[in-house]
Amino acid sequence: MFIKVQNVSKYYVSGSTSVRALHDVSLSIKKGEFVSIAGPSGSGKTTLLNLIGGIDHPSEGKIFVDGKEISSASERELSKYRREYMGFVFQRFYLLPQFTVLENLTFPAEFTKKYKKNDLRSIAIKLLEYVGIAHKSDRYPTELSGGEAQRVAIARALINRPKIILADEPTGELDSENTENIISLFKKLNFNDKITVIIATHDPEVWKRSQRIIRLKDGGVVHGGK
Ligand SMILES: Nc1ncnc2c1ncn2[C@@H]1O[C@H](COP(=O)(O)OP(=O)(O)O)[C@@H](O)[C@H]1O
Ligand SMILES: [Mg+2]
Repeated sequence: MFIKVQNVSKYYVSGSTSVRALHDVSLSIKKGEFVSIAGPSGSGKTTLLNLIGGIDHPSEGKIFVDGKEISSASERELSKYRREYMGFVFQRFYLLPQFTVLENLTFPAEFTKKYKKNDLRSIAIKLLEYVGIAHKSDRYPTELSGGEAQRVAIARALINRPKIILADEPTGELDSENTENIISLFKKLNFNDKITVIIATHDPEVWKRSQRIIRLKDGGVVHGGK
């Protein structure tokens, strides 16, 4: 199994209060699957993505990705894991407003030192072409529609050639036409590039196009974990 979450619980502790965000969650995801994580607000969707993405550690339980246990990995190992495996996409895009579309791809990628600086520009342009936004390469984020901004964010997520895309409410701020376009783009990445796609979402349009829906409620899996 490509991704295996085993009896995972997550508590957020601050001072004397502790919030239980996930409780005894077990699920598995195959390589190349296209999965939605559904559930009401506060049910633990974002927490689960953060744990699978190696952004945070579980309080209990284990997580394996591609045969490696990431739940016990050091920060250093996790940052390598994220660079090698993960592309993150968010509801709010998080583009850097002072940079052009093209620079929003090349600037963060410079730090990963995966590519030579000279190659980076052409790699970024190819990705922008692939997601259909190369004609806006020299524009600034404020000049883009929500759908266009999300394309740029997806291109940015692809620059390290991720094996897994984790998207958190990626259509949450888009109208229905842009939602459809962005879902089609995720389907293309899944089908053509064999990227495993995991989307936390309320959006029934995304659920419809998923191979499987994992439903969370109050931090537990109520449906679709296996
Ligand atoms: N950093 C945090 N500190 C404290 N509580 C948190 C934190 N992040 C999430 N929570 C709590 O954990 C629960 C699950 O949150 P979350 O994973 O964001 O759910 P969802 O994405 O489904 O809305 C909620 O009760 C939320 O308030
Ligand atoms: Mg959330």
